[in-house]
Amino acid sequence: MKRNRSFSLLFFLSLLVIIFVTFSIVSVEARKTNIKKKLHKRHKGGHTQGSHSPCPVPTPQGSTFDVLSFGAKGNGVSDDSEAFLAAWNGACKVAGATVKIPAQLKFLIKPVTLQGPCISDLTLQIDGTLLAPPEASTWPKSSLFQWINFKWVRNFTIKGSGTVDGQGYNWWSSSEFYDIQKSYSKHIPGMKPTAIRFYSSNFVTVRDIRIINSPLCHLKFDNSKGIKVNNITISSPENSPNTDGIHLQNTQDVEIQRSIISTGDDCVSIQTGCSNIHVHHINCGPGHGISLGGLGKDKSAACVSDITVEDISMKNTLYGARIKTWQGGIGMVKNVTFSRIQVYDVMYPIMIDQYYCDKQICKNHTSTVVISGVKFDQIHGTYGMQPVHLACSNSIPCTDVDLTDIQLSPSPKYRGLQQAVCWNSYGKSQGPFLPSSIDYCLRSGGGLIKRIARSHDKVCY
Ligand SMILES: *[C@@H]1O[C@H](CO)[C@@H](O)[C@H](O)[C@H]1NC(C)=O
Ligand SMILES: *[C@@H]1O[C@H](CO)[C@@H](O)[C@H](O)[C@H]1NC(C)=O
Ligand SMILES: *[C@@H]1O[C@H](CO)[C@@H](O)[C@H](O)[C@H]1NC(C)=O
Ligand SMILES: *[C@@H]1O[C@H](CO)[C@@H](O)[C@H](O)[C@H]1NC(C)=O
Repeated sequence: MKRNRSFSLLFFLSLLVIIFVTFSIVSVEARKTNIKKKLHKRHKGGHTQGSHSPCPVPTPQGSTFDVLSFGAKGNGVSDDSEAFLAAWNGACKVAGATVKIPAQLKFLIKPVTLQGPCISDLTLQIDGTLLAPPEASTWPKSSLFQWINFKWVRNFTIKGSGTVDGQGYNWWSSSEFYDIQKSYSKHIPGMKPTAIRFYSSNFVTVRDIRIINSPLCHLKFDNSKGIKVNNITISSPENSPNTDGIHLQNTQDVEIQRSIISTGDDCVSIQTGCSNIHVHHINCGPGHGISLGGLGKDKSAACVSDITVEDISMKNTLYGARIKTWQGGIGMVKNVTFSRIQVYDVMYPIMIDQYYCDKQICKNHTSTVVISGVKFDQIHGTYGMQPVHLACSNSIPCTDVDLTDIQLSPSPKYRGLQQAVCWNSYGKSQGPFLPSSIDYCLRSGGGLIKRIARSHDKVCY
């Protein structure tokens, strides 16, 4: 009996021990899985979960957002705009990301706005082709300003071996264009889309790609700063109207280099609000050459300064180095250098035209955008119509216009004038000159006029 009771006690105690040990093991395991779960959660959630975490999970670097992974077809027929936008929006949130347009495929893109600011150093790698809608008549009327619009981007690069094709053919032909005008933009004459436009964007690089057949301008920067264009090719047919290559407006600190541009209008067009622009090593032509202006249209103010254009080759262009202003404007153009420009069969290699006019007759005005400090230096080759044409304002002459080493012979293909023509232009001449009439073209002095000119600078600063 006694033995029986002690046995029961022992059994009871053993049972207690077993229960206690089991409970401990279970609870430790439970805690372990809990921790594992928490860790897993924190990892998956990334920075959104980790506000209290001592070491935040870093965002991935160098990620690629291929438009094909976002549903693009790349067959040149399906509308791939949504996929392009989705890839952009994904890449925009990741540092150092690349939006990829893969090679050998064609992506039809409707007018889009790719908006920043993005996390820094976004790249658009174009190896395939971007195609604009081919039918001018189906173009959305709310997007007539441009096709691909980059807005508020910073530290952004476009590069690659691909092509951006504006398919502008039926915008150029006047009958189709007339229909568009009638139905969409009665009040905005000449409204056609620019192919690539950057608006209010800083530190942008565009390199290596081809931009072709834009309905209007091919590559435009406005209200931007810190722009680099390098090694690009721009082309559209000679008879495509108003198809500027690169167009700058209200943009500062620009370098455009080592590119080939042939269009139906200016290779590079520099408009009001531009300063510190360096254009060099460009093959230009056919087209209208490299231009400042037209400035001062409709009595507007124009300010352009610190422009250097050098080491340029121009072939079969209408103009070479040109500044054009409308009568009646105000403001100033100053510190402009055109240097080392080789011309082949260029109609008017050197031109200042302060009577720019798009009609038969424009009204005469005394007010003008003042021009001061323009150098034409080492301009050599052959011309078609007139070697030098400087037509400055009647009321305020151009000052500090320097002509140095200009050697231009008439092209045998044309029967141009042998004479250099200068009207109201003051400055220094330093030969050699060919034709020799260039030597007598400029007036010397102009101190009083310079003081008047300087007063116009106040409009700009
Ligand atoms: C953007 O680029 C500019 C010029 O290269 C540089 O000074 C600036 O620090 C960059 N900004 C960012 C946010 O990376
Ligand atoms: C210029 O662009 C072309 C076409 O994309 C490319 O093949 C070439 O390597 C580029 N050159 C330089 C110097 O980057
Ligand atoms: C003229 O412009 C160039 C840039 O094109 C600049 O380097 C130079 O300092 C400017 N000169 C003056 C006197 O402002
Ligand atoms: C403008 O002025 C020029 C030169 O004085 C003159 O030949 C021309 O007829 C004038 N044009 C008009 C529209 O008054």
